[in-house]
Amino acid sequence: MYRDTSSCNTYNYGDALYWDARYIQEGGSFDWYQRYSALRPFVRKYVRPSSRVLMVGCGNAVMSEDMVKDGYEDIMNIDISSVAIEMMRRKYEYIPQLKYMQMDVRDMSFFPDESFDSIIDKGTLDSLMCGTDAPISATQMLGEVSRLLKPGGIYMLITYGDPSVRMPHLIRPVYNWKTLLYIIPRPGFEKDEGCSSAKKSYLEPVPTTEDGLLPPSFVLEDPDSHFIYVCRKTDETELIFTPTH
Ligand SMILES: C[S@@+](CC[C@H](N)C(=O)[O-])C[C@H]1O[C@@H](n2cnc3c(N)ncnc32)[C@H](O)[C@@H]1O
Repeated sequence: MYRDTSSCNTYNYGDALYWDARYIQEGGSFDWYQRYSALRPFVRKYVRPSSRVLMVGCGNAVMSEDMVKDGYEDIMNIDISSVAIEMMRRKYEYIPQLKYMQMDVRDMSFFPDESFDSIIDKGTLDSLMCGTDAPISATQMLGEVSRLLKPGGIYMLITYGDPSVRMPHLIRPVYNWKTLLYIIPRPGFEKDEGCSSAKKSYLEPVPTTEDGLLPPSFVLEDPDSHFIYVCRKTDETELIFTPTH
């Protein structure tokens, strides 16, 4: 259920062995979907530079390095691939703001509850959704994300998955997340300036239905857009006051 395999190809993105082999073969660095420069307005809006950040499934992306250049002070990076983690640890040993640990997002018991102000996920839930037991993996991962967030903390999910395949995972009442959705075109997409929606700002959240879905009339400017879900773990003190008569 809620498994979107349309972008999984034949690769086993949910398998650590696949990623180890890929990182051995490719080396270097690569950022999936978007670079930090495109994501910066969203990151700066929701993640304070002094906050404690967890980057889940960091791979060999430059995103965390770019965030440190932009003033971020404390980023813990984890990935299931020991090859990626060793490469990145060596590469960044001179940057004290960046730490790297090999870890499975489905079991982050190394960290105590409420350890992080923000958790950033660019393509990692997507990878799990391509693996075996995808729905179970997603539930385990998001349960851990929820546990590790401080009250008021932010889980920022950057994904190719539209709300019909991602919201069912994010709206579980046990997480108590309030979610905003942003949609940005893939890098290099040229919008049709004549189109009436061309004046729309990507920096504004997209209106969604009560279930967090896109309204039926919503048209994606770029059919291969990326989706940014900003999930805020609501504080238990934020009780909804219902007046009684
Ligand atoms: C699509 S790549 C994204 C990498 C990076 N975040 C980026 O934006 O370029 C997905 C990453 O998730 C990692 N990954 C897959 N399953 C994982 C798991 N169970 N726990 C931790 N990391 C995992 C992979 O090793 C890979 O580095």
